[in-house]
Amino acid sequence: VSTVTASDFMMPTYRRRAVEFARGDGARLYDEAGREYIDLVAGIAVASVGHCHPLVVEAVADQCRRLVHVSNLYETAPQKRLALRLAELTAGKLSFFTNSGSEAVECALKLVRKWGRATGHGKWRVVAAEGGFHGRTLGALAATGQPPKREPFAPMLEGFAHVAYGDAGALRAAMDDDVAAVLLEPIQGEAGVRVPDDGYLAAARELCYRWGALLVLDEVQTGLGRTGRWFAHDHAGIEPDVMCLAKSLGGGLPIGACLATPQVASIFAYGDHGSTFGGGPVQCAAACAVLDVIETEGLVERAARLGEVVTDMLGDAFGKVRGKGLLLAIELERPVATKIADRALELGVLVNDVTPSVLRLTPPLVIGEDEVRRAGAVLREAAREV
Ligand SMILES: Cc1ncc(COP(=O)(O)O)c(C=O)c1O
Repeated sequence: VSTVTASDFMMPTYRRRAVEFARGDGARLYDEAGREYIDLVAGIAVASVGHCHPLVVEAVADQCRRLVHVSNLYETAPQKRLALRLAELTAGKLSFFTNSGSEAVECALKLVRKWGRATGHGKWRVVAAEGGFHGRTLGALAATGQPPKREPFAPMLEGFAHVAYGDAGALRAAMDDDVAAVLLEPIQGEAGVRVPDDGYLAAARELCYRWGALLVLDEVQTGLGRTGRWFAHDHAGIEPDVMCLAKSLGGGLPIGACLATPQVASIFAYGDHGSTFGGGPVQCAAACAVLDVIETEGLVERAARLGEVVTDMLGDAFGKVRGKGLLLAIELERPVATKIADRALELGVLVNDVTPSVLRLTPPLVIGEDEVRRAGAVLREAAREV
């Protein structure tokens, strides 16, 4: 295996950096030669509780020994535990379990359409945001407000309008009786960590109430403590009707969830939606362990506190640092993000060049302050050289 590269036998959809990781522990990764790296990427905001957290590893191993799969035709204890725990965290929302963020969005879109048909005289249009990212499947892609990602795959699913993100006036102008839902990220992650002004989400909530539309929040990247609150919409003091989760939920195992208020969720009937693997016992056991770790280790508060440490530290060196909690971005003056990320990797730090001029930082929430300082020094060094 070490003599072939990933591109020899896989479709050319990713530019993979030439490093082969073999092991992870907390906020550290080790390559096949045993070299250590500090991870400010966390598998794109997935490894919030750190790589190979012992409680997650044990929960997964234990569940693997008991039962790996039975399908959704039967009950399992881990799935029930997870649904209950998520309901407690989300003011009583009901879950549909998926295998990814894109699928959680697909579920939300189907729910919105059926809800619009049943309660809104057939309305089905969705207003989403320019720059927004909701996934690569065709429905989620149609909702994604990034034309270069959509255009090669036209024609798209109909019924999506994209308005300027963070602009409550633009949202207001797009609302009418045909709008079944507004779909937004509370902070746009893939667009480069774009944080809307305070009041934007509250305005979206208000507009949805006024027009009888559902507010669907995509918290795939922002959810579960990443921004220093359990959910990014908690900063705004509002509740969505529907919410999508994935990424950090499974601690690295593939699981997502579409959550909806009981009233909205009850629009689905048996057979309306499904998934062979969704909510399998191993993924759900992992997710239960992840939620336990986030709670018992105080990772939500930790993300808020460390976010300030990182912002102060990097703000001195780079000027523009934005974000909330440990969902952060450095805005560079020149389009050198890839060069800095490449050099940082050589120096032993993983950072994500999310756009040509933005470095995104989504470290594990368990990262130590000493690791943050060491990684910060490497980023400064890499930027100086570049
Ligand atoms: C906000 C948001 N929604 C949806 C997705 C898609 O998730 P997945 O890659 O698990 O399908 C992502 C992935 O980056 C995301 O950031």
